[in-house]
Amino acid sequence: MIEKSPNKIIAGVMTWGVWGKDFQVNDMAERIRTFHESGITDFDHADIYGGYTTEATFGAALRESGIDRSKIQLITKCGIQYVSEARPVKIKHYDYSFEHITASAEQSLANLKTDYLDVFLLHRPSPLLEPEEVAAAVTQLLEAGKIRSFGVSNFTNDQTALLLKYLPVQFNQIQFSATQHEAATSGALDFMLLHQIKPMAWNPLGSYFKTDSEIAKRLKPVVEELAQKYDVGTDTILLNWILKHPAQVAPVVGTTDVNRLKSQLKALTFSMSTIEWFEIYTAALGHKVP
Ligand SMILES: NC(=O)c1ccc[n+]([C@@H]2O[C@H](COP(=O)([O-])OP(=O)(O)OC[C@H]3O[C@@H](n4cnc5c(N)ncnc54)[C@H](OP(=O)(O)O)[C@@H]3O)[C@@H](O)[C@H]2O)c1
Repeated sequence: MIEKSPNKIIAGVMTWGVWGKDFQVNDMAERIRTFHESGITDFDHADIYGGYTTEATFGAALRESGIDRSKIQLITKCGIQYVSEARPVKIKHYDYSFEHITASAEQSLANLKTDYLDVFLLHRPSPLLEPEEVAAAVTQLLEAGKIRSFGVSNFTNDQTALLLKYLPVQFNQIQFSATQHEAATSGALDFMLLHQIKPMAWNPLGSYFKTDSEIAKRLKPVVEELAQKYDVGTDTILLNWILKHPAQVAPVVGTTDVNRLKSQLKALTFSMSTIEWFEIYTAALGHKVP
């Protein structure tokens, strides 16, 4: 058996603000407290969430929560220029210029009321990304202690390899779930294992609860049977499927409900068998593996 660091689950806050539940500072502080008491230490942000407003509400809420900053890991992302009241750009685009990366990190620090970001990610790859310019900005932020680690999100292997020529890339946050499982066979997760890049999975429940898609219909009997066997929720089984991968993918869960969160955290307490993993995978594919 190979010794590994423990798996983790990250709380994504994309829908905590005006893009979803519209929690005010008090509500958000209470949620940060209850999530933290339940075992969450990592919170996933992006500058754009809530049309560039959610980071600031969270920053005020974190302060109000009274939780020691050192007990919390703050992840945020930069680069998407999203047309909104706060950002009157002509068209949605990506900006990875030295100036934009630096200004975005400074803005996130101010919004989150902190003097360092634990993880700083480039949100989406841009065809115009200049790796040396990104490296110059990120290196300066690392050296100043303003960010403690760096990564990417939604980057392909080649796009990541290009950056790796110029600086360490420690994370790639990708879409990965039982219903969006390509990363398991495309080489994306193998590439991350090879280069010691930690994967995070956004939308880890995939389309299971959102749509009545054919894939969700095929998954339901298998996932429900396993939920009964392990005496957990179906969402917990979907997360356990992700956690079984050797690349130690950290699911970024989007629930805003603390009871659901507590049930999802049970995914860290057991490991489904290889046969069960393949039962889910086979149902997702709609046919046996070759
Ligand atoms: N890097 C990127 O490009 C990117 C893109 C998108 C998202 N993200 C990050 O990933 C995070 C999570 O994404 P996601 O929201 O798609 O995650 P998710 O955990 O797959 O889905 C969360 C949604 O599923 C619902 N849900 C959870 N458990 C359920 C259950 N047992 N039954 C029915 N519905 C259930 C939640 O509703 P309740 O709130 O009512 O529980 C919520 O609407 C975001 O917050 C963000 O931080 C990153």
